[in-house]
Amino acid sequence: MSDPLIEAALAAREHAHAPFSRFKVGAAIATESGLIFTGCNIENATFGLTICAERVAVFKAVSEGSRDFLRIAIATDCETPAPPCGACRQILWEFCGDIELVLVNLQGRFETACLRDIFPRPFDASLL
Ligand code: THU
Repeated sequence: MSDPLIEAALAAREHAHAPFSRFKVGAAIATESGLIFTGCNIENATFGLTICAERVAVFKAVSEGSRDFLRIAIATDCETPAPPCGACRQILWEFCGDIELVLVNLQGRFETACLRDIFPRPFDASLL
């Protein structure tokens, strides 16, 4: 049975702008209100300006007034589906807390995890 969130992440990956790394990533984040926001990685010749797929998806959602996040799917062309980078873990923690992650590859192999599992001791506003 197909999962619309996984399908959305795989479709978003097709829009990736990754001419430098050739590593395309797609993300799709679902809200409790039934919305899905997608993102892809967007690279730049000034490499440091690159933004990851996960952050594009979260920032699109937040900028459109949605924060009731439930689940995020992340699609990569890796044998073992890739987890989010450290910067994205921090952003996901800020806006989503202990969200469910669905890591998927192009063959449809997927793993699920909670953000806490891969980001066990976060820095956040509770420390400020
Ligand atoms: N990338 C993502 O989009 N998400 C991640 O969590 C890891 C890395 C992108 C950034 C860059 O365009 C490419 O993958 C290689 O690092």
